[in-house]
Amino acid sequence: MNLIEDLNWRHACKGMNGNKIPQQTVEKILESINLTPTSLGLQAYKVLVIENEELKQRIYNEACQQQPVTGCSHLLVFASYTQITDEYLDEYFELISRKRNPGKEWCDKYRKKIEFFREKNYNDMEGWLAKQTYIALGVACTVAANERIDTVPVEGFDKEALNSILNLPEQGLSATFILPLGYKDPNLDWMNKQPKVRKDLQDLVEVIK
Ligand SMILES: Cc1cc2nc3c(=O)[nH]c(=O)nc-3n(C[C@H](O)[C@H](O)[C@H](O)COP(=O)(O)O)c2cc1C
Repeated sequence: MNLIEDLNWRHACKGMNGNKIPQQTVEKILESINLTPTSLGLQAYKVLVIENEELKQRIYNEACQQQPVTGCSHLLVFASYTQITDEYLDEYFELISRKRNPGKEWCDKYRKKIEFFREKNYNDMEGWLAKQTYIALGVACTVAANERIDTVPVEGFDKEALNSILNLPEQGLSATFILPLGYKDPNLDWMNKQPKVRKDLQDLVEVIK
């Protein structure tokens, strides 16, 4: 299918009907998240896939009163690591070694080279890591649209409440955004069929020859 058609099809879905997405389609979207590029390949986030209806209702009540939170099939919570610890880097290099076997000397050299990010202060680091997570948001929305699955990226939630419900700080994580996946309810999804609001391409793009 044509990707531009898919991107025109998708919109921020404001109301979902609760129908379930086939497992293999969910897995395809999750795989696309795993294949997303990140700076240095650190993948410094976790994706929680919430199917439990009671938990969705609790998140709705305490952290985010937006209909797709309960109307969705699967609620994805993208949680970013707030810092990169030595243990995290150890695991990262173990993974590289398992996949590519570049040798200890290469790993030691590369580890030294990439540790530039350690110079960032706590807040810059947290922000930089959170930014990586958004790349996966774009990919997930695109692949979902290709599968004709509705999505809405949601940043409008009480971060402290959601972090607490999911025990994220204990794991060094913080919720960055959530992504309900599901099927639109045409009666609730007032964005359905609305024309896209986008700039003219020449106002967005400047070609320098
Ligand atoms: C990072 C991010 C956060 C967003 N947060 C919300 C949100 O909390 N609630 C909501 O209804 N839409 C939210 N949106 C949807 C945007 O408003 C929507 O994508 C934008 O208006 C463009 O419309 P379209 O996605 O329908 O093309 C968010 C989008 C992004 C990318």
